[in-house]
Amino acid sequence: MKKAFVKSYGCQMNAYDSARMADLLGEEGYAATDRVEEADVVVLNTCHIREKAADKVYSELGRLRVLKGERGQAGQDTRIVVAGCVAQAEGAEILARTPAVDVVVGPQSYHRLPELLARSRQTRVVDTEFPVEDKFDALPARRTGGVSAFLTVQEGCDKFCAFCVVPYTRGAEVSRPVAAILAEAERLVAGGAREVTLIGQNVNAYHGAGPDGVPVTLAGLMRAVSRLPGLLRLRYTTSHPNDMGEDLIRAHGEIPGLMPYLHLPVQSGSDRVLKAMNRKHDADTYRRLVERVRAVRPDIALSSDFIVGFPGETDADFAETMRLVADVGFASAYSFKYSPRPGTPAAERADAVPEAVKAERLAALQALLDGQRHAFAAAMVGREVEVLVEKPGRHPGQVAGKTPHLLAVQFDAPATTIGTLQRVRVAATSANSLFGERTHADAVAA
Ligand code: SAH
Ligand code: SF4
Ligand code: F3S
Repeated sequence: MKKAFVKSYGCQMNAYDSARMADLLGEEGYAATDRVEEADVVVLNTCHIREKAADKVYSELGRLRVLKGERGQAGQDTRIVVAGCVAQAEGAEILARTPAVDVVVGPQSYHRLPELLARSRQTRVVDTEFPVEDKFDALPARRTGGVSAFLTVQEGCDKFCAFCVVPYTRGAEVSRPVAAILAEAERLVAGGAREVTLIGQNVNAYHGAGPDGVPVTLAGLMRAVSRLPGLLRLRYTTSHPNDMGEDLIRAHGEIPGLMPYLHLPVQSGSDRVLKAMNRKHDADTYRRLVERVRAVRPDIALSSDFIVGFPGETDADFAETMRLVADVGFASAYSFKYSPRPGTPAAERADAVPEAVKAERLAALQALLDGQRHAFAAAMVGREVEVLVEKPGRHPGQVAGKTPHLLAVQFDAPATTIGTLQRVRVAATSANSLFGERTHADAVAA
């Protein structure tokens, strides 16, 4: 049997696309493998968000070139596909730089992968179109996505933050219709999913067509999805502060199953920098927004993304970011050094922050955020939490799952608990996980 190896870089949208490509190749008779040496088709689903992410792809392609040569000598063909955001951003340049690549396909045209692979037997191909047809309609129905599954409901972005490539690599904001999402969610649940995370680059700008053709908000969509029998938990990510509508805030107090966790990137705490980033809100608006969400759902865990060293960022600007973090308190966060990206407005600026200053600021910010993350986890010790069991744990006899606040937990229980909710008394924390004991042997009734 032919085999396909699909490797995903970058965000959850890419992880979702990778799963869909694996399904598509499955329909074409390729069994999925995690051993690249035995793959007849290798797909790298790439990320262009920071320079480091894009560089990784070229070093991987260097290794694949050797592998392809070795397999070729043994009489085996290997097709190498570069998909995702680097494919979209660089297109034919990838072919010029890396002779081993056969197909370059962007995030909006990967449903054509079988056809592109067939064509690549004659000539190397590039497809970075934003086609009129809906790729989701052309993809095979999903069979499974695990206990906790991602579901793309919205793609692309019209926000054009000055640092970001996403509006260029993913294109304009598009929402999938409610019916298509419900059908996919139903199939996921039938395949064993108990938690679904609705994903989109700007998921809270969702405005897909409802049954009567009238646009539905993310809150409306979540109300519909949350009614699916068998579905225990619902999440969504990633959101922009300017799209946190009143009904979405209220949804956090109303939708059973919507988990008390919100990833709400703010990027900076300095109004000057936020303006230069084209974020279109200031730091106090963000603070007030967090207060409104907490008023509805006091136990909500907040998470965010930060960029340090945006061009022109001063010590005083950075101090404002530290102050915002101290004021808000985050359960978790991602933080990055600003990385200039080709084609974005910020990359044209002459007032770059020196690398050493960026590194210093990142270390200070991460120390503060890590402290908050550990304190948040440590506060769970002694408490009883509800855990959705997702998979076997690190050690025999253990299982692993997540709390409503997205904290990983390991505890002793049989593998039959996978896919159920269990109550666990937290006894200890480590860097990345909680440990505890089941408080009773039966699953919590859903
Ligand atoms: N759509 C999401 C984020 C997509 S990218 C949103 O708006 O929140 C994920 C994160 O990568 C961003 O939130 C930002 O913090 C970071 N990022 C994006 N472009 C970057 C760049 N040029 N340099 C450093 N970090 C960047
Ligand atoms: Fe990028 Fe900004 Fe769009 Fe997020 S909102 S994807 S950071 S342009
Ligand atoms: Fe990266 Fe593209 Fe996602 S650039 S973060 S894979 S949308």
